[in-house]
Amino acid sequence: MKTLIAANWKMHGDLSWRAKPNAFRRAYGVPTHGKNSGVDILICPPSHMICALVDGAKGHDIHIGGQNCHQAETGAFTGEISANMLADCGATYVIVGHSERRAIFGETDSMVAEKADSAITAKLVPIICVGESREQRESGQADEVVGDQLKSSIPASANGDTLVIAYEPVWAIGTGLVPTLDDIAAMHDHIRGILSTRFGDEKAQTIQILYGGSVKPSNAKDILALTDVNGALIGGAGLDMESLCAIAQAVEG
Ligand code: PGA
Repeated sequence: MKTLIAANWKMHGDLSWRAKPNAFRRAYGVPTHGKNSGVDILICPPSHMICALVDGAKGHDIHIGGQNCHQAETGAFTGEISANMLADCGATYVIVGHSERRAIFGETDSMVAEKADSAITAKLVPIICVGESREQRESGQADEVVGDQLKSSIPASANGDTLVIAYEPVWAIGTGLVPTLDDIAAMHDHIRGILSTRFGDEKAQTIQILYGGSVKPSNAKDILALTDVNGALIGGAGLDMESLCAIAQAVEG
């Protein structure tokens, strides 16, 4: 299975950042990422930059995605963007259910499932995010919380063909804190088990499970070497192309 290295730019950047795919390519050197390698690179910029980034990424084998979408195709939803609209710009992925969307914008599991469903219908790959809070981890509820989120956030329409899961412990996002490698491995194994129950063992083995939360060039190699970690969702360290590149290179050794 390919490794997916995904940068979530959150609400950062301006149109001059359309040059970043080119900067990534220069930093990466030999084009070993992309179609013929074991690594896929994805950048998820703010919505106003998606078309420009798709253009800037042409010829660089870099995928562009959205950070969120509305569950409806069109309608009177001022300020929202639909999965179709993201696809219209040339996006190929969309993050749904990021913990900031869940905590700040009140998104529930069922909304996340509807968003993922609309993404699949628009032929985008949804990256469904799940993760426990610090209190939930400390009280031993992490497995249960993540399991419940996963079961309720994967839409009924999903057949496992186009689906990515991102495990992002809320307390690790933007804090510099990272679970132990054993804890990451155990959670990814738990997630794989839930995917097996839902989609069968064979299909579950093909679904990428990303880890997210304070991934940096210094810890990427160890995290990405874990058996059931098939990539990373990166916030802060994905704004800088040198550090995104260093993380991608950690995959290839
Ligand atoms: P971080 O963010 O890498 O800055 O911790 C990860 C995320 O929010 O996806």
